[in-house]
Parts: sequence; structure tokens; C-alpha cells
Amino acid sequence: MEESERLVSADAEGAEEQVIEAALRPKKLDDFVGQERVREQLSLVLRGALRRGRTPDHVLLSGGPGLGKTTLAMIIAAELGQPLRISSGPAIERAGDLAAVLSTLAEGEVLFLDEIHRLARPAEEMLYMAMEDFRVDVVVGKGPGATAIPLDIAPFTLVGATTRAGMLPGPLRDRFGFVAHMDFYEPAELEVIVRRSARLLDVEITDDGAAEVAGRSRGTPRIANRLLRRVRDYAEVRADGVITRELAKAALRLYEVDERGLDRLDRAVLESLMRKFGGGPVGLSTLAVSVGEEPETVEVVAEPFLVRQGLLARTPRGRIATPAAWAHLGIAQPAASPMAGTLFEVDDGADRPE
Ligand SMILES: Nc1ncnc2c1ncn2[C@@H]1O[C@H](COP(=O)(O)OP(=O)(O)OP(=O)(O)O)[C@@H](O)[C@H]1O
Ligand SMILES: [Mg+2]
Repeated sequence: MEESERLVSADAEGAEEQVIEAALRPKKLDDFVGQERVREQLSLVLRGALRRGRTPDHVLLSGGPGLGKTTLAMIIAAELGQPLRISSGPAIERAGDLAAVLSTLAEGEVLFLDEIHRLARPAEEMLYMAMEDFRVDVVVGKGPGATAIPLDIAPFTLVGATTRAGMLPGPLRDRFGFVAHMDFYEPAELEVIVRRSARLLDVEITDDGAAEVAGRSRGTPRIANRLLRRVRDYAEVRADGVITRELAKAALRLYEVDERGLDRLDRAVLESLMRKFGGGPVGLSTLAVSVGEEPETVEVVAEPFLVRQGLLARTPRGRIATPAAWAHLGIAQPAASPMAGTLFEVDDGADRPE
């Protein structure tokens, strides 16, 4: 199973999803939900620059997929009243590609470089100078006869986005005047996003219906919006179009997304771990075979969220189901299971499966 095939994947899917996402994107900082601190800090950076009539510091947006980096980049340009030029690390293969982009920027424009951690090394070095001095050296010719021609570029604001801030070289990170770390969203924030999106999609949803969708969205607006669209289909085909809590529950049961946002694969991994291996520890490859998946799929697609939720622990001896996992799946934990009675915190919140 590929990550992109999942309803609960945080990655953007095909072209259709991109079109819908564009329609659901907030256009102003005030409409951007959550990320309170980032929003406030960014607002100061932008207002300060506007007051001084200068281009603002370069901004780095760091955070997982679907948390709103592209959305914020567009908002930054809109708030500055500037066009947004969009490119990405992988699209810029050579320094010359970057020089071409930089040299056509008009003063004050905002350049968005998505996946900036994937920028090729020579381009990255050119970017250092561009960010700092608004100047690049374009190398003409090859070998001993090559000469560097300095080229002034208009003052611009770089907005970089990365899902892997750790992979960004220090010198590059240091050249951003403002780094925004985007976190997962709280259920209450996602609820606001779901209600807002429903309004834009012209779907009627009750408050507890929105809460139900929000709670299963893994802290991620993109997933919230996607679940909302699936629930809307269900509401329109099977009911009167209104999304109530009951309806959202029924729809998401059909799509196999549970109260905590776990899907079939997540649950299969946990269930196998518990039923076949007494809760572990068991090695990754054995666990993967038991659910009929590649080890990499289990490790990359299922485990990160399970670990984040405190349902699964990776230990040197293998994978272990935590007491919270037993509770969540409603399976009685045998007394001999490795973590029974350990100090692991048991989350026995209201999200047991029905
Ligand atoms: N704070 C927010 N308020 C409202 N909607 C949001 C917010 N953040 C994200 N969204 C919505 O979630 C979707 C995904 O957001 P976006 O494309 O900005 O994520 P991203 O961080 O750029 O993801 P990726 O890493 O995959 O590029 C968009 O449709 C956007 O409307
Ligand atoms: Mg993006």
C-alpha cells in the first residue's frame, strides 16, 4: 500500500485534490486557523516591513505535510500585496536555473521555494549570496577560462518550506530571519477548519458533526478537508445532505477511519502485534509479514502516527503495543504481555472503538 492511496495520508493526492485545496485555502492571515504563535510573529514581521517600506526578512516554514506551509506562503505574498513566484528544490537542478528565477524577480516580490531541503548544492550556495546581498555570481564558460559575472538582483523575500528542517544545512537555515515551526493542530482548531471548509463547499454540518470529523483528522488540516469531502458524499447519497455526528460516524466507519484517525492498515498492525505476538516485542519484518505488507510500508506509512499517538513503541528488541493500544482496540491485555503493569501511561480517553 502506498502512502498516497490512503484516505488518512497527509500528502496531497492528484490534481483534483489540488484544485479543491486551492479553493479551501484561507487568503488572509486572519482567516488562517490555529498556529497562534506563528501567526502573531509573522504578522509582526510583515507589518513591520510594510511600515518601513522594506522587504521583510526571509521566512522559513517548517512542518509536516498538510499543515499549511503553502497556504502561509501565499498569505505572506497577499499580505504584502506582492505576486508570489513559485518554484521548488527539486525543480532547480542547476545553479543556472536559480539564477534565471532570481534575475527576473521584481523588487519586493516573494519567491516561494517549496521542499527547499532538496535544493542541489551549487544552487544552494548561490542562494546564500542572493539572500544576504541580493547578488549572484553567474559563472560563464568552463574550465580555466570560466569567469564569474556578478549580477545584482532586486531585493526580494524568500519563503522556504520544508517538511525536513533537520536536513537543511545550517548556513542556509541561518539566513532566514524568521523560522516558523508548524505543529499539528488541536481538535478545536481542526473543528473550525472543518466548519469553514463546509461553508465554502456549501455543505451543512452540525457542530458535533464537525467535531467528529476533526477528531479523526490526525491533527492535519489536509486530512480534515479530505475526510469532510468523503463524509459529504455519504451525506448526499445516503441521507439528506446534512452532516450530523451520527452521519459522520457512519460514513467514517464505512471508510474505515476510526475515532482516533487510525485506518485499516494502522489497526491491522496493532491487532496483529497484539493477537499474534502477545503485544511484542516483535521485529519489524516479522510484523510486516503478518499483515501482508513490506517492512518499509509498515515503518514509513503506519508506524510514525502510531508512535506519535503513543500506541506503539519501537524498542531495540522490537515493536511493542502500549497499554493505550490494547485499550484503543478493546482487546484484553494478557497479564504476561511485556508491558502489562509498566509505567507506560494509559490513555483511556473516550476514543475506544464502538
Ligand atoms: N491553518 C489553516 N486554516 C485553514 N485551512 C488550512 C490551514 N492549514 C492548511 N489548511 C488547508 O489544508 C490544505 C493543505 O495545506 P497546505 O497545502 O498549505 O499544506 P502544506 O504544508 O503546504 O503541505 P505539503 O507539505 O504537502 O506541501 C489546504 O487546502 C489548506 O486550505
Ligand atoms: Mg505545500
